[in-house]
Amino acid sequence: MITTTGLTKVYRTGRSGRSRGHEVTALDGVDLHVREGEVFGVVGRSGAGKSSLIRCVNLLERPTAGTVTVDGTDLTALAGRGRRAGKELRRARSSIGMVFQHFNLLSSRTVKDNIELPLEILGHSGQERSRRALELLDLVGLADKAKVYPAQLSGGQKQRVGIARALAGNPKVLLSDEATSALDPETTRSILRLLRDINRQLGLTVLLITHEMEVVKTICDSAALMENGRITESGTVGELLAVPGSRLAHELFPVDGAGTGPGGTVVDVTFHGDAATRPVISQLSRTYNIDISILGAAMDTVGGRQIGRMRIELPGPFEENVVPLGFLREQGLQIQIVDEPAAAAVAVADPVTEEPAGSTDQPAALTKDGAK
Ligand SMILES: Nc1ncnc2c1ncn2[C@@H]1O[C@H](COP(=O)(O)OP(=O)(O)OP(=O)(O)O)[C@@H](O)[C@H]1O
Ligand SMILES: [Mg+2]
Repeated sequence: MITTTGLTKVYRTGRSGRSRGHEVTALDGVDLHVREGEVFGVVGRSGAGKSSLIRCVNLLERPTAGTVTVDGTDLTALAGRGRRAGKELRRARSSIGMVFQHFNLLSSRTVKDNIELPLEILGHSGQERSRRALELLDLVGLADKAKVYPAQLSGGQKQRVGIARALAGNPKVLLSDEATSALDPETTRSILRLLRDINRQLGLTVLLITHEMEVVKTICDSAALMENGRITESGTVGELLAVPGSRLAHELFPVDGAGTGPGGTVVDVTFHGDAATRPVISQLSRTYNIDISILGAAMDTVGGRQIGRMRIELPGPFEENVVPLGFLREQGLQIQIVDEPAAAAVAVADPVTEEPAGSTDQPAALTKDGAK
């Protein structure tokens, strides 16, 4: 539904006279793919380029290079063709709704008139605008606030108006830049629920920017990590949790805890679906007659599915634990060795795609790449 290829944005600042000023590369070749109907979260530190990305996706900002395709239309091709193309771009943009951190409501207009604003610009009749605005107010749970002014609303209510306004033109795509950052945790949850409901009910594709992992956990199907203008990790949340060394997975489920001393093997284990509710660790302990120390653990629900991570320590070096680790993988768990130099050179094969552990001399399927 949204695809960017090689999206690059360079801001040139302080250019005057003969001075060339200096350049800031906010986006550095971003390839993004958001599937129809999914909620896709982009996370990253301040200055990573998240807002630049979203502003380039709806061409509020003209990319320096690369393409943006939304719902089959190459917006970047429309952008540079003079005034007529400008009109086409405006039309294409009307299928993209945008929600802002600070709501961007007009204080001089009532709630209903704020929602009608984009429809006025699109030239809809008064009657049609009114009907649509009331319908949207109902959808966002503010049917009784039509005649009220923004100043009389709470932050959460203002954001509901912002969302209703973004939906006015029946967009296929909703872009959201830190829509919940100015809200308290409980209001954040209610706004996220609203976005999720809208996503499901209307089949709307949502691309949201956030720096809160809670947002990703609560509503995102997929996520990407942005660093220095690049996407460094990307995938469905389930996939990301399965990638050894994934920084996003670690942020979503931080598990810490130091080993009890030299000689043990410390392993991070990720549980999904079924495996999250089976007594795998006690089975492991009984089957191989080993004592397992649990150094840290986190359990949570992602997209309604239980997922967990645990850091455990097995006695003895990695080489002695290849078989028990293979057992964990056969149980459908993802495992990653923590700070164990030998692991970099030894394979613990994935039972699905490769030979079972212990019966292979293939190069490392489980590497220390990215491990802390
Ligand atoms: N209009 C602009 N002119 C010049 N530089 C800009 C402009 N907008 C952003 N930048 C620079 O581009 C980089 C990326 O900024 P951007 O706003 O996209 O980051 P962000 O990830 O949204 O950060 P935050 O989490 O703080 O909102 C930063 O170095 C920023 O200073
Ligand atoms: Mg930003």
